[in-house]
Amino acid sequence: MSERNATLIVEDATYTLPIIEGSEKEKAIDVRSLLKDSGHITLDSGFMNTGACQSNITFLDGKKGILNYRGYPIEELAERCSFVEVAYLLLHGELPNRQELNEFRALLARYALLHEDMIHFFDHFPPNASPMSILSTMINVLCNYYPEMTAQPDPYEAFIATAARLMSKIRTIAAFSYKKSIGHPLVYPRADLSYCGNFLNMMFDRPVIPYVVQPEVVATLNKLLILHADHEQNCSTSTVRMVGSAGVNLYASISAGISALWGPLHGGANQAVIEMLEAIHRDNNDFGKYIAKAKDRNDPFRLSGFGHRVYKTFDPRAAIIKKACHQTLAALNVDDPLLDIALKLEEIARNDDYFISRNLYPNVDFYSGIIYRAMRIPTNMFPVMFALGRLPGWMSHWHEMMQDPDTKIGRPRQIYTGPAQRPFVPLHERE
Ligand code: CMC
Repeated sequence: MSERNATLIVEDATYTLPIIEGSEKEKAIDVRSLLKDSGHITLDSGFMNTGACQSNITFLDGKKGILNYRGYPIEELAERCSFVEVAYLLLHGELPNRQELNEFRALLARYALLHEDMIHFFDHFPPNASPMSILSTMINVLCNYYPEMTAQPDPYEAFIATAARLMSKIRTIAAFSYKKSIGHPLVYPRADLSYCGNFLNMMFDRPVIPYVVQPEVVATLNKLLILHADHEQNCSTSTVRMVGSAGVNLYASISAGISALWGPLHGGANQAVIEMLEAIHRDNNDFGKYIAKAKDRNDPFRLSGFGHRVYKTFDPRAAIIKKACHQTLAALNVDDPLLDIALKLEEIARNDDYFISRNLYPNVDFYSGIIYRAMRIPTNMFPVMFALGRLPGWMSHWHEMMQDPDTKIGRPRQIYTGPAQRPFVPLHERE
């Protein structure tokens, strides 16, 4: 029994439940013994208040707007690190020294190519196939060409090598799917370019118009990927952990995470924001109409890029992205009318009781799409960009779960509300 306990009275019986405290003093009541001892389950749809694991990767405090990866504040990481450094931090638990960083970069460079046979897969998607569907399929296919490196003597090194393969190949897959969608020849990865520079070059280099990697764009992309790199037990990460808990390989678990991320309430929100801002633009900036729709309980429309399950004062990532949005558009000399619409929409919502009383503020996805537009990333690829960023987080959680002796196959309970047991009626009697 832990030092501190909670007492639960269920009808006439009293149960003592241990209290678990995290390293930032957050508290949980451990209800694992409750079913065995009392015959009751706990019910919490949407897992609004249910911890599924103990994790040492990311801490966030939604009331104070704090987000730390492995103890480091997101503001500092986004300002002072490259995405590859942050990926190393998430995967290994510590920031790399120069030699470790170079070795990790070398691994990423070594694994950037795709098996040529895999390239034929791209030819068989319909012309307008969703880039997220292609990404999740191709990531799953990777396990056939590159089985997990479990045969290596050190299982940890084996995981890191597979993780580096995935991290390197995901950007090749993403860029190839774009090139195929526009009918252009593929551009292969180059060992002399940085992680982000390589991705941009594979996306935008053309035989007749060579792409010049712009340092401002590379810096902004690093920042965006860092801000998306982990977010503890969000929907897609929980999916990766849930799928992995059945003993599934890393590739298939990540593929499932990509599918979860696709949804407009999660990583698809950055695309949905741009589509919403474009709709407002086409409607001659009729903000009143969209605000009214968002507030109408009978209308499924929501302000995309607003609200968060956990952040209730502000999303620290959104603050950084908003600033980066102004800086990037200025550096690239882009004048996007959607930025003005987004700013106005934010101002209206921030002064409206509906949004204030529900703590609905811009989240990480509200301004990120405007930056991706300025970089010429197509709108339907925005969730893919989120996936590129979130991959190190997903892999770190998968590995942590696999190593945790407390891990059990994910298997929630339910309260059944269908018909109570009844006698079977044979077909000839069912008139
Ligand atoms: N526009 C209008 N009303 C909203 C919105 C919104 N964006 N978000 C929440 N509400 C209302 C909701 O209708 C409910 O009102 P009421 O109390 O009257 O029933 C109240 O606010 C609480 O909402 P909820 O649905 O119970 O909150 P949740 O924690 O289950 O959902 C959310 C969180 C992010 C899914 C939701 O805020 C939302 O749908 N936002 C828009 C989609 C979006 O931007 N998603 C990206 C999230 S950040 C990136 C990521 O983690 O993927």
